[in-house]
Amino acid sequence: MTLRVFITGGSSYLGQHMVPFMLQQGNRVCHTWHSTRPSDAVGGEHVQLDIRDTDKVLEAVESFRPDVIIHLAASNRSINEASMVSSIEEGAKNIAMAAERVGCRLIHMSTDVIFDGTEGLYTEESDASPPHAYGRAKANAEKIVSAYDNTVIIRPSLIYSLEIKDRSTEWMESSIKEGKSIALFTDQIRNPVWTGTLCQACLELATHPYTGVLHVVGGQTMTRADFGLKLMEWWGIEQAGLVVTAATPPDAPWPQELRLDFSLASEILKTELLGVDQVFSNHSRIG
Ligand SMILES: NC(=O)c1ccc[n+]([C@@H]2O[C@H](COP(=O)([O-])OP(=O)(O)OC[C@H]3O[C@@H](n4cnc5c(N)ncnc54)[C@H](OP(=O)(O)O)[C@@H]3O)[C@@H](O)[C@H]2O)c1
Repeated sequence: MTLRVFITGGSSYLGQHMVPFMLQQGNRVCHTWHSTRPSDAVGGEHVQLDIRDTDKVLEAVESFRPDVIIHLAASNRSINEASMVSSIEEGAKNIAMAAERVGCRLIHMSTDVIFDGTEGLYTEESDASPPHAYGRAKANAEKIVSAYDNTVIIRPSLIYSLEIKDRSTEWMESSIKEGKSIALFTDQIRNPVWTGTLCQACLELATHPYTGVLHVVGGQTMTRADFGLKLMEWWGIEQAGLVVTAATPPDAPWPQELRLDFSLASEILKTELLGVDQVFSNHSRIG
């Protein structure tokens, strides 16, 4: 089935995987960018959009008339906190309004850091306990988009691919090149999720009857230290004696135990929630 897919944040890390994936699956795609214009090679239609601009959002969505909006735009990367919060919260309000206006399905990308990491094994029903401004804004965005009834809210963990370096890997690489030592934390627990899993899950959820929150994460629980070391090895980044593994400093705002219960997603989706080792070994076999 060919779908009309409207992707906000086509220029995001995840968007750079989602846009080509949806096109390769034979769908019509319109993707948005804000400050990072995509190259013509990306394909599909694209539109520059500030998702805080209600009229422009409605105009873009009404003119494309999507079957599904995949809302990826607005992460913790912004010029300042006010801009981050407004992009996440006002953006969510405008996107949900536009989805309702055209009567399409909405897939909203949230995050595991709506939880503070003091408990672990959080379910879709667990109360949000955001540890910082980004987590609070994303938790608020979840409330905003859930007012529209044809919505799925995906909560991923750390997102990675083996084709494009993720931001943490870029940070590790550039720090080491500059001779700076880096600490990878042994007590921060995550379910890193491969971009391929998220792309496939979004495609499946585009026509799935499920509405509500869904934990779409990798099926393998890992410390950020183990995950970071694995990525460094994959990308051939030499440690140069500059990498230490350590416990999180007591005053740091980063959540520790962020293991998500993904049993609901495993039950309702055909998409496999591959763990990090499975993804790496599948790629080694192909490459
Ligand atoms: N990366 C992760 O590990 C991770 C983990 C959990 C959840 N998530 C969630 O997954 C989604 C994608 O994350 P990401 O890391 O791939 O994002 P990212 O690379 O940080 O990119 C952020 C995107 O938001 C767009 N954007 C920001 N402000 C905007 C505005 N006011 N109007 C329109 N677009 C705006 C940016 O456009 P320009 O670049 O064109 O300005 C860019 O496409 C986000 O919702 C994030 O919260 C990410």
